[in-house]
Amino acid sequence: MKTDNIENRIQADGVGFHEFKRNSNVLTFHDDFAKYVKSFGDVFYWPKGNFHVVTNALLAKKALTNPLISCNRSSFFISRMPNMDLSLLSDFFGVVSKMTVMSDGDAHNKRRSIATFGLNDELIDNYSKQIPIIIKKLILDAVSDGKIDFAKDISSRLPSIILADLFSIPQEDRDKFYEWSGIMTGFFGGGTGYENSDGIKVNSAAKELKNYFENLLKARKENLGSDFFSGMLRVAAKHDLDDDELISQAIMMLVAGQVTTTDQMNNIMLQLLQSQKTFSEVKEDNNLIPNMIEELKRLDPAVTFIFRVAKDDTYIGNQKIHKGETVFISTHTINRDPSLFKNPNNIDINRKNMNHYSYGYGAHYCMGAKLARIEMNILFTILINEYPHMKLSAERVERNHYSLSFSGFNSLPIVLS
Ligand code: HEM
Repeated sequence: MKTDNIENRIQADGVGFHEFKRNSNVLTFHDDFAKYVKSFGDVFYWPKGNFHVVTNALLAKKALTNPLISCNRSSFFISRMPNMDLSLLSDFFGVVSKMTVMSDGDAHNKRRSIATFGLNDELIDNYSKQIPIIIKKLILDAVSDGKIDFAKDISSRLPSIILADLFSIPQEDRDKFYEWSGIMTGFFGGGTGYENSDGIKVNSAAKELKNYFENLLKARKENLGSDFFSGMLRVAAKHDLDDDELISQAIMMLVAGQVTTTDQMNNIMLQLLQSQKTFSEVKEDNNLIPNMIEELKRLDPAVTFIFRVAKDDTYIGNQKIHKGETVFISTHTINRDPSLFKNPNNIDINRKNMNHYSYGYGAHYCMGAKLARIEMNILFTILINEYPHMKLSAERVERNHYSLSFSGFNSLPIVLS
């Protein structure tokens, strides 16, 4: 690590983060990665990725509430495709630039409040009664010789089914719908570099999704229902949002709500089956299941990095951040900040402070946290009670670190009984 004399900013170098992830041990990735990123300090510039990294919780909170640090990450995506003809990305940027998750200030507030009407508590609470039925069917359909592949059979399917249901997407359209949103999410996760072909692919997915939702919106306008779109439509005029903005919020929900929940379920399952003590505790007292979920989410968050772009020169701690520079906030490390969590690397499902940063912090705090918590609580309650002897299978657990921010699983085979 060295200090840049001119600006006195800390600069660190080592194995690239994506490379580290890809070469990590599947069972200990979360601990190893947290230690690796933290080893460079509280805040540092990372030339390999051309971004700053924050690993201290207090500094992360300051960065996430700094009005000079923007959610509009377009320039980051553009910088990763220096040879790309940007006109080929016009559909992608047209869609994402209107999303809550890419907006700041008043535009953010307006878009967020309308999206909240779409994903409202009543819709979630009414729908959640169906979740146990979906889960039990997924397990029954998948189980073979007492085994399932949790990643392939359950976690990759459940969040998609739930979102498609909440949008009232017809069954016959769902495969296409899942494919397009998967492409968008992978791109959003941030790469060290993108190929031009990635840009063309994501633009096409954005275009297809937009066309799809234009038709769906037209149908909902003629016949309002109780789905996500209808909820937004009921209040759209009052909030002065046009159709393109409504469609962008719908696509955002898909992009933000699928793989995050899938990955988080996998991360929790792997840790639970590796910790006999935790498994016994929740079997004995089911009331501890929500705590268990929060604690394992803290230790292995689905979103590895939350990132932003500075819209003017500013500071994070003593580190100067130039206008246009990108800041990556490492959730693995801020979730283990020793000033907030005692023995931060240990699993303790009775700890008092469960306020981790796995759902972000500040104005952009996750809008799907309630839904995700309900899904995971129901899923793990069913699994823990109906399969109290479940364990990792001897077959290979395979992770898929498909972007800087996301880390999924290709397979997580478990023996149910
Ligand atoms: C366990 C599952 C989930 C995790 C770990 C997660 C994580 C996050 C994180 C870290 C952020 C902050 C991003 C930032 O500040 O840039 C966020 C924002 C967001 N999440 Fe989630 N999320 C999950 C599930 C969901 C679901 C199910 C939905 C929707 C159905 C959703 C919708 C959103 C939206 C719309 C935002 C942006 C909010 C804004 O910009 O104001 N998330 N999520």
